[in-house]
Amino acid sequence: MARKLIIAGNWKMNHGAGKTREIVCGLRAELADVMAVDIVVCPPFTSLAAAVEAAAGSNIVVAAQNLHWAENGAFTGEISAAMLTELPVTYVIIGHSERRHYFGETDETVNQRLRAALDAGLIPIVCVGETQHEREAGETEAVVGRQLDGGLAGLNTAEVTGTVIAYEPVWAIGTGLTATPDQAQAVHAFIRNRIRAAHGADAADQVRIQYGGSVKVDNAAELMSQADIDGALVGGASLKVDDFAALVRNAAAG
Ligand code: 13P
Repeated sequence: MARKLIIAGNWKMNHGAGKTREIVCGLRAELADVMAVDIVVCPPFTSLAAAVEAAAGSNIVVAAQNLHWAENGAFTGEISAAMLTELPVTYVIIGHSERRHYFGETDETVNQRLRAALDAGLIPIVCVGETQHEREAGETEAVVGRQLDGGLAGLNTAEVTGTVIAYEPVWAIGTGLTATPDQAQAVHAFIRNRIRAAHGADAADQVRIQYGGSVKVDNAAELMSQADIDGALVGGASLKVDDFAALVRNAAAG
């Protein structure tokens, strides 16, 4: 079945509101005719309002990089789902490997955040992926399977179908070491099969699975041409208008 590609730029801790406005305006000018791809930018929290305003009425939508699961309360430094929907943002990244490694996120907290996002009507982009050590030990499927089962626990089939999964091998993030198309495809097929086993063929056919980890202009098309790769979660190559616009175009053509 044809799944619409989704290319998201995860800016991580880059670009304040002024720069965000400039980039989103640049992207909307460059990519106005690209309708075959869902185009998403994910700026830091303080730049989200600027991104939403600059993207209004265009084919670009905005994602946050995280959220907290509580509705409100004494959680200094955290942001709730309702705060994001009020902007409004459309998507939210959950469980990025940097959150897992630097900020102690677990499959359990990923699951709590996912529940809050879905209840608020946000579309989650849930990240999974193994470290180099885990890959070398032959544990890739065990790790990704565990992250999927724990992260998606308790979701019904419609919720799983509407969630975007991002496979991001940790060893490929920010290293210039991209997974080969074959390596990525193998894990994407594994993820889709796991969803098929838990939620049936329709959910598996419809769920979108992005690849992330050193996706660049030059490798985007080949990655996107794999049967089970439905988009990309892009870090470094999403920070400049020219790079990201060319990457989106290449992916759309691939
Ligand atoms: P890079 O594209 O910089 O490797 O980052 C990938 C990533 O972590 C996207 O979320």
